[in-house]
Amino acid sequence: MTDAGLGAIPTVDLDRARRLLAGDGPLAVLTGAGMSAESGVPTFRDAQTGLWARFDPSELATPEAWSHDRDTVWAWYRWRQHLVSGSQPNPGHEALAALARTGRRVEIITQNVDDLHERAGNHEVHHLHGSLLRHRCDSCGAGSVIGPPPSGQLSQLTPPRCRDCAGHIRPDIVWFGEPLPAREWDSASTALAEASALLVVGTSGLVHPAASLPSIAARSGIPVIEVNPGHSGLGAAVTIHLRGPAGSILPALFPS
Ligand code: OAD
Repeated sequence: MTDAGLGAIPTVDLDRARRLLAGDGPLAVLTGAGMSAESGVPTFRDAQTGLWARFDPSELATPEAWSHDRDTVWAWYRWRQHLVSGSQPNPGHEALAALARTGRRVEIITQNVDDLHERAGNHEVHHLHGSLLRHRCDSCGAGSVIGPPPSGQLSQLTPPRCRDCAGHIRPDIVWFGEPLPAREWDSASTALAEASALLVVGTSGLVHPAASLPSIAARSGIPVIEVNPGHSGLGAAVTIHLRGPAGSILPALFPS
């Protein structure tokens, strides 16, 4: 038997997932690009539509790319910021926010660099990979507030200079080869250690250290529920895999 409107998801799996997620402690939620896909924000690794199918990460998401061609990197991130500013939280984001409004402690650990969880109404959001909406100097590290991005996609755009030193303003994003922000990682690890269940939504589970969180949760004995219409690299860490999109499955897991 399957739940009406949820395609091929067995009702028995949904019911068991609801019970495991109900728990008696805080809920940790690890999200990836698939969480925002139904808001119109592209994922990275989906065939054809994923950003890494169309762009080379080594030319856009590494410190070397920034040193080599800042104008191209800056233009690309300003375009992504423009995309995010025109998107809205989807029913998956709304379901997590509605759950937090019931009084349940919901700790979102996200790899996403958008602000859709916050705009939906979740306050405990740990951004492991930074934010498209924040900027900082590439030399002294000072935060910088800059105006809205240009509409449309430019191939080159010169980043502003730092007000305090000779540096350039860069996106406050974690690039390949860079460490995660220690404070966010520590707060996410604490949230996971206190949780009674981990819900994992829309991640390929290929980028570490974020991808290690489900196996850390499994080793500590809490259930790991995955929501993803496709396959991921999370394997044996997952207790139940619900194969469907976040925008349908999360409202079914947490009906308001
Ligand atoms: P990926 O693009 O690697 O994976 C997205 C996952 O979302 C895939 O497993 C899809 O099957 C799934 N998916 C697609 N649509 C979905 C939907 N509607 N509901 C639920 N799931 C859906 O994205 P991430 O795992 O987030 O790093 O990628 C991890 C990191 O790699 C990103 O944070 C980014 C990237 O390089 C940085 O930018 C630093």
